[in-house]
Amino acid sequence: MSKIFSKSVNKLPAQLVIILLVVGVTTVSGFYYYGTPRYTRVGYAPNQPVAFDHALHAGQLGLDCRYCHSHVESSAHANVPSTNTCMNCHNQIRTESPALELVRQSYETGEPIPWVRIHQNPDYVYFNHAVHVNRGVSCYECHGQINEMEVVRHDRPLSMAFCLECHRHPEKFVRPHEEVFNLNWRAESEREQLERGLRSVQDYRIAPPLNCSGCHQ
Ligand code: HEC
Ligand code: HEC
Ligand code: HEC
Ligand code: HEC
Ligand code: HEC
Repeated sequence: MSKIFSKSVNKLPAQLVIILLVVGVTTVSGFYYYGTPRYTRVGYAPNQPVAFDHALHAGQLGLDCRYCHSHVESSAHANVPSTNTCMNCHNQIRTESPALELVRQSYETGEPIPWVRIHQNPDYVYFNHAVHVNRGVSCYECHGQINEMEVVRHDRPLSMAFCLECHRHPEKFVRPHEEVFNLNWRAESEREQLERGLRSVQDYRIAPPLNCSGCHQ
């Protein structure tokens, strides 16, 4: 027996245990890392307490984003509208609809509707809506085709690599200021976008930060 199984075999179980441990820990932490929300958040589309439909309100009815997200041009944070904004119309439209029960309740009690937050940077990231919107960056670039979504979903990664892709080449993305809220606008060709984009970058001296402290303050 001792000739068939040499001495080194005695070490095998210990080595195996170590290898299995290493593999196990790597796999688990890998799942943990890539499984945490920021890697799976594209596609995140939580159920909202009221089935508010952007495709209907912003698409079909053609309401401007600023009718509801009124701070988006003037402050770092875009606001979600208060119930009063809804009641501008829904005190006359569909006043009996069960789909609007919570909206009417909120209006009467003053309790805000508990909308579920979808997009959220980590605390260590500095971001400002107004700066982007006022420099010709459309909602479309970061939120996708919201005006066609019945339920808002997290459409773009909003990761550091995503931010930097545009910060390195803003000419590929900036658009005429009057088209920022028109989510259907596209340049006629890639070439037209580049020519126009380069002109904007020059005219408005657009220079998005690439240094770490620009976004991590
Ligand atoms: C009639 C009001 C209204 C209009 C117009 C409107 N929105 Fe909204 N928006 C809301 C409400 C209410 C929510 C929260 C519920 C939800 O997510 O559907 C919201 C949520 C969002 C969110 C997700 C916020 C989060 O939690 O991260 C984005 C992004 C957004 N809207 C973009 C837009 C864009 C872009 C437009 C214009 C094309 C637009 N909205 C037009 C009312 C509106
Ligand atoms: C400019 C007017 C206007 C505003 C502001 C508005 N809505 Fe509407 N909403 C409408 C119209 C028009 C319809 C479609 C009614 C129909 O289909 O006959 C509608 C339909 C709806 C429906 C579907 C109702 C049903 O019975 O199926 C919901 C839910 C709704 N809106 C929620 C909201 C919420 C929440 C807000 C505020 C964030 C809001 N609306 C703001 C005009 C408005
Ligand atoms: C350059 C990318 C970018 C653009 C352009 C942009 N957003 Fe956002 N948006 C974000 C990010 C990132 C967040 C998460 C912000 C946070 O956590 O502070 C966000 C969050 C939001 C929210 C949730 C509330 C908030 O401020 O956190 C709303 C509503 C919203 N955006 C609406 C809009 C609308 C409407 C437009 C166009 C007028 C727009 N956004 C343009 C990147 C963008
Ligand atoms: C599609 C293009 C685009 C995307 C995507 C984008 N940015 Fe920007 N960013 C710009 C432009 C254009 C400016 C304005 C530069 C200027 O004024 O010179 C800017 C400016 C900034 C500034 C400096 C202005 C200030 O408020 O101090 C910060 C910080 C910033 N962006 C953070 C971010 C972060 C974080 C993300 C990702 C979540 C992001 N940006 C995504 C185009 C973009
Ligand atoms: C244009 C904005 C921007 C710039 C410039 C930037 N970052 Fe980031 N960074 C981000 C955003 C946004 C996130 C969050 C990504 C997420 O939520 O997944 C982030 C995340 C990080 C993280 C955490 C990564 C993780 O996986 O947990 C580190 C570390 C980091 N940045 C370091 C840096 C360093 C170092 C620099 C300079 C070389 C830098 N960043 C420049 C936007 C930026």
